[in-house]
Amino acid sequence: MASDEAAKLKAFVGSIIILWLTKREILFRTHSSTDLTVRSVGSMVTLAGWVHRRRDHGGLIFIDLRDRDGLVQVVFDPRVSAEGHGAAATLRNEYVIQVWGQIGRRPAGTENPRLHTGEIELIGQGCRILNASRTPPFYINEDVEVEEALRLKYRYLDLRRQRMKENVILRHQTVKCLRDFLNARGFLEIETPILIKSTPEGARDFLVPSRLHGGKFYALPQSPQQMKQLLMVAGLERYYQMARCFRDEDLRADRQPEFTQLDLEMSFVGQEDVLGLMEDMFICLAETVKPSMKLLKPIPRLTYDEAVARYGTDKPDVRFGMELRDLTGIVAGSNFGVFRNAIRGGGKVRGICASGCGSYTRGQLDDLIELTKGYGAKGLVALALMAGPVGLAVDPASSAAAKFIGLEEVRAMAALFGAREGDLLLIVADQATVVDRALDQLRREMGRRLGLIDPSVLAVVFVVDFPLFEWNEEEKRWDAKHHPFTAPKEEHIHLLDSAPGSVKSWAYDVVCNGYEISSGSIRIHQRELQEKIFGLLGYSRERVQTLFGHLLEALEYGAPPHGGIAPGIDRMVMILAGEENIREVIPFPKNQSGYDLLFDAPSDVSVEQLDELHIVAKKEG
Ligand code: AMO
Repeated sequence: MASDEAAKLKAFVGSIIILWLTKREILFRTHSSTDLTVRSVGSMVTLAGWVHRRRDHGGLIFIDLRDRDGLVQVVFDPRVSAEGHGAAATLRNEYVIQVWGQIGRRPAGTENPRLHTGEIELIGQGCRILNASRTPPFYINEDVEVEEALRLKYRYLDLRRQRMKENVILRHQTVKCLRDFLNARGFLEIETPILIKSTPEGARDFLVPSRLHGGKFYALPQSPQQMKQLLMVAGLERYYQMARCFRDEDLRADRQPEFTQLDLEMSFVGQEDVLGLMEDMFICLAETVKPSMKLLKPIPRLTYDEAVARYGTDKPDVRFGMELRDLTGIVAGSNFGVFRNAIRGGGKVRGICASGCGSYTRGQLDDLIELTKGYGAKGLVALALMAGPVGLAVDPASSAAAKFIGLEEVRAMAALFGAREGDLLLIVADQATVVDRALDQLRREMGRRLGLIDPSVLAVVFVVDFPLFEWNEEEKRWDAKHHPFTAPKEEHIHLLDSAPGSVKSWAYDVVCNGYEISSGSIRIHQRELQEKIFGLLGYSRERVQTLFGHLLEALEYGAPPHGGIAPGIDRMVMILAGEENIREVIPFPKNQSGYDLLFDAPSDVSVEQLDELHIVAKKEG
């Protein structure tokens, strides 16, 4: 027999077998949508998936069949199969079905170049409903805005939508890429416990009552920080883990009460080793999962002080300029009360320059003033620069402050910003932290409004030289800026007692497009220094012993020099996906108030459960 006849016979027998297995429900599908291309034309296949869309075109019924990987058009023609056509007429969106038939080429002119399967279609011979579906509470086949509460309640339907599915897949690709990267560099993936001891680490702990030890509690880890340091004491040298972390803190768009870190730690390393590894890792990640995005390399560095001076924040969005300038010196002798009083009270006067915004209307300026107040400042001085009789002047219509500000001051400010006629200076006077916070937010907003942000850029920056401590004004004491295990710079150790606020540390952050995506540090590996830091943070000897005795003891058994970092997976994927909220890249997130709308959690538990846990619940209200 000629070989093509043999092949045809084999294909024919194959399709009879497939049909037989399908009809007996032994086989659900022979192919997924990704397997099908023009090369499949002529093949007999069975597919399974969801009805994405159904169109009735007179005699023909078209079904877009959706599986995880894509869509396949199925056409039911009564002349091909009256039975198949009849079954197709009963289908509704989101029914789960099985269809079988032969792959054909779409008629010329009806191809869909946007679909992987756009040149072909399945000529349906039969179809079976595997499960019906109620009408979903929102459209799954259209990318329309849906109220978030509804999306979270029906998250399993929301995840069927293309955008969400892509985010879940991107998250998988990200995690896989990071694992591959670290596995190739001698890291061991090691799990650490979820039930641990409550120790102060920044946020509030989630507590878990113990049944076996009445009245005692475990805590869920805010991060496996101490555990990974102990793994270094254990001599494991290079550790990582996709670590679930739990923090009972106020939520924001980039914060969830439970989230995932790529937690890692290395022995015998300094800051350069960790940052070098991170540079390679972020470049590898961007090139692997988002080759369409441009990562600016080499990754630039900013010291903490520089970042705050230039952008008002330690997590700057460096995709655009509009840097802050300090005007305190220029307006020190100002007649304008707002400036004078702020400076007298120990505050600062800083601003940004919005190029070309000098013609903003009163309404636009009032809107910016309101925005800035919303960011915590008392107000905003907006000065529109115009041509005066002798050089630059301020348009008196832009601000009531204009008449108090001398021409000399205006020109000095303009020179500092490199500003010109037609530009708008936006100035805030207050305590430095208030000024910086407000201008950081205002700068971000102006960057968005003026279209200065290129969404295809990944502007990663390493921020280094963080202070070791931060003054807690409310409690009148020093807090650790990163965490209490961070090593001070050796040359600043002598300042620990005399000027703790000026001690710099070996802490570093990775910032991308204005988000902090990783934080880490070189750790203290000697007991004496660790005890000293706890003391400066205000812990009594007894409290240190109770909370951190295990760690201090471990440091006495040959703890190697070590350091590490923890990139936040959720935030990284959020940026790579072009989303503005981490809930969009977490399959089952909590809502803004920490509530799980799908499971209705947190929920009441029975009195018996509480009894077992030795707990009496206080009723709210
Ligand atoms: P840190 O607390 O800075 O450091 O956290 C590291 C990274 O984790 C991510 N992250 C979060 N993501 C989502 N929701 C949250 N609530 C949340 N909190 C933090 C951020 C952040 O940069 N143990 C140290 C790391 C170390 O020193 O190695 C730690 O946890 O991307």
